[in-house]
Amino acid sequence: MDAQTPARGATDAGAARALQTSIDYVAPPDRRPAHFPPGWRFAAGGAPFVARHAIVASDAPIASRVGSQIMRRGGNAVDAAVATAFALAVVYPEAGNIGGGGFMVIHLADGRNAAIDFRETAPLAATRDMYVGPDGKVTDRSLIGPLASGVPGSVAGLTAVLARYGTLPLSTVMQPAIRLAERGFVIDSASGRTLRGYAHNIAEFGGAPLFVPDGQPLRAGETLKQPALAKTLRAIARRGRKAFYEGPIAEAWTSELAKRGGIITMEDLRRYRPVWRTPIRSTYRGNTLLTMPPASSGGVTMTETLNILEGFDSLPPFGSAGWAHIVGSAFQRAFVDRNAKLGDPAFVKVPIEELTDKQYAARLRATIAPMRATPTTSLKALGEGTQTTHVSVADARGNAVAMTTTLNELFGSSVYLTSAGFFLNDEMDDFTSRPGVPNMYGLVQGEANAIAPGKRMLSAMSPTIVLDPRGKLLLVAGARGGPRIITSTTQVILNVLDYRMSLADAMSAPRLHHQALPDSLRIEDRGITPAVTDSLRAMGYHPFFGGAIGLVNALMRVPGGFEGVSDPRGSGSAAGF
Ligand code: DON
Repeated sequence: MDAQTPARGATDAGAARALQTSIDYVAPPDRRPAHFPPGWRFAAGGAPFVARHAIVASDAPIASRVGSQIMRRGGNAVDAAVATAFALAVVYPEAGNIGGGGFMVIHLADGRNAAIDFRETAPLAATRDMYVGPDGKVTDRSLIGPLASGVPGSVAGLTAVLARYGTLPLSTVMQPAIRLAERGFVIDSASGRTLRGYAHNIAEFGGAPLFVPDGQPLRAGETLKQPALAKTLRAIARRGRKAFYEGPIAEAWTSELAKRGGIITMEDLRRYRPVWRTPIRSTYRGNTLLTMPPASSGGVTMTETLNILEGFDSLPPFGSAGWAHIVGSAFQRAFVDRNAKLGDPAFVKVPIEELTDKQYAARLRATIAPMRATPTTSLKALGEGTQTTHVSVADARGNAVAMTTTLNELFGSSVYLTSAGFFLNDEMDDFTSRPGVPNMYGLVQGEANAIAPGKRMLSAMSPTIVLDPRGKLLLVAGARGGPRIITSTTQVILNVLDYRMSLADAMSAPRLHHQALPDSLRIEDRGITPAVTDSLRAMGYHPFFGGAIGLVNALMRVPGGFEGVSDPRGSGSAAGF
């Protein structure tokens, strides 16, 4: 691998910031010009990264380049996705991981589709009320510190997927990550800022010597070398999943965790298995969508939303009050079901067929009043009947991979295991700690997602592949952002399919979010005009304006190649050739 030593810029923000207006870029002829409200932070008509043969879009430019180079050396999209994931674990430690979990959807050139769930599981010693304090209040132990982590799934998932669908040896696809851990890379300004924000927590839970030396968080321009992580990665490259789940490395990190009060045991690791699942396959206006089934809620919620929207011959003009109302109401209804009915299918019966049925969506659509908000509480009866990272990859042979992986919050639980060189997730917060009490994302969830030993916590991760009406690859997308993963990914798809925007515009366009509870329509700051805001208020909405909704990484097949865009709200970039 021709990575420089040390490679510059984990997330090298400004360097490759693609979405500038470019007089050279001409959008494919089937795209329409987009119009955003005056004052919106991104200009329409921006240029994407364009590649002729193969492409990767991720949150870290170095990691995208690693994936691209693996394909240049003959690897396929799966090889590249796995290489990118391991590289993210090194250069993007706030979200890339070996101490977390994720989901991957795969579409192969020969028409086969697959999905793998490498979500974390609750440790065997976990109990339903472990985060409820003596006063009956939910504590923050599901978010920070040694009790917050589920049993990591990433190493098991990535090695399994490579064995089944990859073409290169594990040692080859892991080599760039090992090198980056060993030789180091230069922290850029985006990572520097993130580290500063989390320095206190990281220092409290073991990460001080590496990330906060002498009490000062590493800054942009400094080099981060991770010898312990390099050693762990080297062992995995040699011996596969066993190196992480059995033997001396596993013994070392589980006993280090136990000393600090954690409960993940060798038995938990021995039992951990990723699960191959059948992707949810649905259609939207003649296109085919392949998305992730539970233990992620992403695919069901996205499919339900799109089925509701498909019943409208066309969607209201982008950015109008009608747009916010119809799209927001569809999300609101899908999230009511998500929050109440979804959970790990090994533990609860999940009505996937009903929730993804077009007739069922028609019943939900009928509850959307023309130009009038519906309070979420009145929808409840209808029941009968902070850090993640997404990678989109496509190769020259027609294979595509959508993968989302996470530690949950930035740096997960903040617990850094010095013996093995990685951060552990705080995914336990995605369970319902107590029915009716909101989690970190304000999600109010039910019994279906209650904690039980060995159970997977419900996720919102939505890795998605869209095939065009002829069955050819069109789009690969996914995001980070908790429940906003679902709404942001869906909106990029709507922007491409309904509004015919170029990929760059589809990614730059203002976004909204509705997750049923809290019962509010959230819109990105300056994402709609004051007149539209007034109209929404008159319709009974209480629009709430806030920061970025989701960070999406997407690619689109266009005549002559691919376009790739990393969300302009973040600091990633695409790479390819
Ligand atoms: O699985 C989930 O839905 C969450 N743990 C995702 C967290 C996330 O996206 C944080 N990033 N901003």
